[in-house]
Amino acid sequence: MTEKKFPGVWGGILCRKRYIDEKLIESIGQIEALVNLGAGFDTRAYRLAPIARIPVWEVDQPQNIEAKRRRLRKLFGEIPENVTLVPIDFDQQTPAIVLPTCGYSIGKRTFFIWEGVTQSEGIAGSPEVTTRRVLDGGGRLGPVRSSRFFQCRLSVSMWPARHCDGGPM
Ligand SMILES: C[S@@+](CC[C@H](N)C(=O)[O-])C[C@H]1O[C@@H](n2cnc3c(N)ncnc32)[C@H](O)[C@@H]1O
Repeated sequence: MTEKKFPGVWGGILCRKRYIDEKLIESIGQIEALVNLGAGFDTRAYRLAPIARIPVWEVDQPQNIEAKRRRLRKLFGEIPENVTLVPIDFDQQTPAIVLPTCGYSIGKRTFFIWEGVTQSEGIAGSPEVTTRRVLDGGGRLGPVRSSRFFQCRLSVSMWPARHCDGGPM
């Protein structure tokens, strides 16, 4: 159905997933944490073996976090020890304030993922304004020189064109 309306969209999403996976695996050994902002039902924390060695924070809306918690318990019996599920509303709260209440230390060398969130119906503002506000000035979430930040989105108005940036914060 989506494929008919927007040809190539699922292929684009798979490429995006693979690209971020590869950059994440390349970063192992240089990072101390993974923070997936708007993680949804993304599975890379569970399917990429090297990730089991680093702490992961998966951040999303409370109802999604609870649904994910239920599914993970069904699959694994318990939430994997290295994973912390963090409920948030990006329109009301910032990760820089919420994450430290869930065991994350500001200052950890962190791989941040912000993938496919800004076009979501749950986001009120423009992609740029929301991204700036969620990151709360960028540097406050992690040491700028040692963190990597991925902003990836598919723009409805541009489909099937894709936009994907990755690099140091
Ligand atoms: C299209 S999904 C992308 C999920 C995942 N990042 C991926 O690429 O597979 C967008 C995610 O953003 C989350 N989201 C949207 N608005 C949000 C908000 N205001 N606060 C927190 N999370 C939000 C949704 O719950 C959803 O899981």
